[in-house]
Amino acid sequence: MKKALLFSFLIIVLAIQCKPAKSEIQFPETDLSSADLIPMPLQIASDGDAFGLDQFTGIYTSSNDEPLAAVAEFLSEKIRSKTGLITPINKEDKEGVERYIYLSVEEDFEANKEAYELVMNRDSIILSASDPEGIFRGVQSLRQLIPEEANDTLADRSIWPIPTGKISDEPNFGFRGSMLDVARHFFSVEDVKKYIDLLAYYKINILHLHLTDDQGWRIEIKSWPKLTEIGGSTEVGGEAGGFFTQNDYKDIVAYAAKHYMTVIPEIDMPGHTNAASVSYPFLDGTGKPLALYEGMRVGFSSFDTRKDTVYAFIDDVVREISAITPGPYFHIGGDESHSTSKNDYIYFVNRVEKIVQKYGKRMIGWDEIAQADVDSTSIAQFWASEDHTKMAVEKGMQVIMSPAKKTYLDMEYDTLSKHGLHWAAYIPVDTAYVWSPESYTEGLPLENILGVEAPLWSETISDLGELEYLAFPRVIGHSELSWSSPENRDWEKYKVRLANQAPFLDRMNVQFYRSHRIDWKENKYTYKEIEKD
Ligand code: ACM
Repeated sequence: MKKALLFSFLIIVLAIQCKPAKSEIQFPETDLSSADLIPMPLQIASDGDAFGLDQFTGIYTSSNDEPLAAVAEFLSEKIRSKTGLITPINKEDKEGVERYIYLSVEEDFEANKEAYELVMNRDSIILSASDPEGIFRGVQSLRQLIPEEANDTLADRSIWPIPTGKISDEPNFGFRGSMLDVARHFFSVEDVKKYIDLLAYYKINILHLHLTDDQGWRIEIKSWPKLTEIGGSTEVGGEAGGFFTQNDYKDIVAYAAKHYMTVIPEIDMPGHTNAASVSYPFLDGTGKPLALYEGMRVGFSSFDTRKDTVYAFIDDVVREISAITPGPYFHIGGDESHSTSKNDYIYFVNRVEKIVQKYGKRMIGWDEIAQADVDSTSIAQFWASEDHTKMAVEKGMQVIMSPAKKTYLDMEYDTLSKHGLHWAAYIPVDTAYVWSPESYTEGLPLENILGVEAPLWSETISDLGELEYLAFPRVIGHSELSWSSPENRDWEKYKVRLANQAPFLDRMNVQFYRSHRIDWKENKYTYKEIEKD
């Protein structure tokens, strides 16, 4: 089947190439190596000419296998929404196809599933990888190479010139994430999907959902319905709250998977558990009066870590969520458990780790979990304590780099920021980018670093526009810090490429923070905004 398809593709290619060219278009000289690609690819070789994306372009695939077909559909749809062009997929009748984009999965390509090679010639673009995942990452680079505006002067039709040359690319870290806190304020499935769309464009492959906290429990647990009935009814500031049904969650997970993104569910415990304990008071270990909480304090709640019924409850929660989570990870929180004694905390993490493992998942926890007797397969998420991170290394654990001073997307940009907090730092756009995950934490060997994640806590944001204001543009820089090699990361060059993201972000209606440190490229959408005022 695959061979037959490849054969008919070659016939089409030959037929296209034997046709006399309608007109030899003279493209202005291009430079692929200065294209506005974020994250910056590993290697780029430029050859100065252009591929003219136009109404005569078709997409072909090396097989009809469903995952590759889905990526071809994705590319065709993104070309249509950007340019209005309809690019047929695997069109056998060659009429009307003069140049093509070929998506080729080659088993003998590269070991890394995300690695890809993108070769742009005058009449063909060949995107190869060992797996559809690599094709998907390469498709994001290709999308970024298509100009936002057509050139209408080169021919009697609109053409979007794509610079020719070769990109060879693979990620520096396999784990490139962002966290969204849907507990302090709830965000809808549609909001989360838009965040996935934007993150995937920058090759981020992990979405960590902080699903529970003192102010709200946001995921349906069928065996414990009051968690959402009661615990999901509030949020910071006293608005209505909300929660994902298990079907909603599955919908998010499936949408993320279509974008080659893994969802990590977090149930934060033994602290940050007020919403759970109000729903089922036997869980509480503090003995203090329980009430729904709409403020922003931390550290006042704790599960009772010495009761078997608490672990039976946790077993149900981990079982139900793991059953609808295809990814390998389960995040147990474990941060700021200031109302749990150290002995109880260690006992708790040790027991919960076994439950997570029983359901086939790898445990992740904030850096505090490294104090317990955790297994080397568990993962510590460094946010605050270098000492905890050292303990994690001593235990042979891997570490996710989320230093609050650099990656916390809820930190204010400066004193004039409309949203955010500043307990860790003010984080302007350059501060978020100018650091190195490889060397930030002394004594943390490279082989222990799993990757980078930028968390967005939601105490001060309650709608998508506010979310976008804090996340963008900073998370774009974090994508480059996790994908690109250290030699390819340079603030002066990055800030030019970042400035040129404005037309895309504006077209996507992203309410990003127009930091004055960046000379944002104006575009037709910017003008529309100015006209509106
Ligand atoms: C955290 O910021 N409490 C992980």
